Amino acid sequence: MKKNIAVAGTGYVGLTTGTCFADLGNRVTCIDINPDKIAMLERGEVPIYEPGLSEMITRNVKAGRLHFTTDYKTALEEAEYVFICVGTPSGVDGEADLRYVRMAAESIAKTMTHPIIIVNKSTVPVGTGDWVADIVHRSQPKPIPFDVVSCPEFMREGSALYDFMNPDRVVLGSKNKDAAEKVAQIHIPLRTRIIVTDLRTAEMIKYASNAFLATKISFINEIAAICEKMGADVNEVAVGMGYDKRIGPQFLNAGLGYGGSCFPKDVKALEHMALVQGSHPALLRAVMDINRDARRWVIFQLRALLGGQLNHRKIGLLGLAFKPNTDDIRESPALEIARMLQYEGALITGYDPVAMGNASRDNPELRLVESAYELADGADALVVCTEWNEFKQVDFVRIKESMKQPILVDGRNIYEPDMMQELGFIYRAVGRGSTFTNGHEFAHNGN
Ligand code: UDX
Repeated sequence: MKKNIAVAGTGYVGLTTGTCFADLGNRVTCIDINPDKIAMLERGEVPIYEPGLSEMITRNVKAGRLHFTTDYKTALEEAEYVFICVGTPSGVDGEADLRYVRMAAESIAKTMTHPIIIVNKSTVPVGTGDWVADIVHRSQPKPIPFDVVSCPEFMREGSALYDFMNPDRVVLGSKNKDAAEKVAQIHIPLRTRIIVTDLRTAEMIKYASNAFLATKISFINEIAAICEKMGADVNEVAVGMGYDKRIGPQFLNAGLGYGGSCFPKDVKALEHMALVQGSHPALLRAVMDINRDARRWVIFQLRALLGGQLNHRKIGLLGLAFKPNTDDIRESPALEIARMLQYEGALITGYDPVAMGNASRDNPELRLVESAYELADGADALVVCTEWNEFKQVDFVRIKESMKQPILVDGRNIYEPDMMQELGFIYRAVGRGSTFTNGHEFAHNGN
């Protein structure tokens, strides 16, 4: 049964959520306070890179199911639900900054004309649902009934449409079970298990899920550091671990660690919540420490390979986005590594298939080129920062010939050590065993 849905926020979460609900047959109006963004969307341009999103937006706008506006009143006129999908960036000492949630809640309160279900999709600290309800009560010119339901998002950038349409579960939390059931109704077409619980538990499920995934990544990076010393290959260790159903094969890719707009901020926010409540989040702290070290690993490798100093060295970064299939550079390891190298006087060049615009706005000193081959030209070293597919089958002979020295630091373990060494590269990867040295080079099979 098609519903009328409003979505506040047209970022990675809001635009994907609104478009997908429209694609399921609902009538959706996406709201943003930024008129430029709304104008872009109304021209059929998409302000973010998410595979498949542009085509889905065009199709649903054409079908008359998807609309964009800056005006809450228009958006809420017929709406039965309003999803809050605004940003919740890290604030002071890691606490989630909820100013945009507050602005959305106040706008909803002031413009709603009939009972509505307010759905928190943004990742918000435990207890925010109550806080939103309080803001709405205090901001309404006259009391109109409403409910607040937590419905955290579990979408990965780069596969957000797939993740929305094929969720492992939908989590709903509310003081009012009927309201949660009404939100469950619009998720029925997704044919997935729907968990209905209370507000705080739903909010915690989101944080605990992201913090666990981040923990898995820092765990395998810790194992990689030990593999590096012990001559074991962490990629094969991860395969051997992953067949255990209790562990699973995913999120065991060792490398430069996690970035993005979620894991770094969510782990920090959870640590902050814990500290404020007087508990001692030792594991979460270790997860963040290991993730910080994972980026510095590149600096140590380059110093060791380039005679101890990086001043005036020409270093090319393969990939700038925080992960493949996105243009998002938030907390990207590549950009932190670029800043650390620039601080040591290195000359940094970067290439990324889609994130160059965002990267140059973030780091204007970063010289950008249009291909891996241009990156290699005269370089003292190349660093794989983002595992874009197009880096996996480059012409290594051409790369090696145009470099000043054939040094390749593989921060995402996308190449095979044996092959790289046979090609004549001085190759370093994360915990791959075969670059194991205890005074002399071992071949990969250890003989
Ligand atoms: C994540 C969660 O997966 C998603 O459920 C949540 O809703 C939002 O945050 P996202 O941050 O978009 O999604 O990307 P994800 O694919 O989870 O990767 C997060 C980071 O971890 C990336 O920087 C990626 O490079 C890194 N990563 C991921 C690893 O370093 N190793 C891995 O094995 C997997």
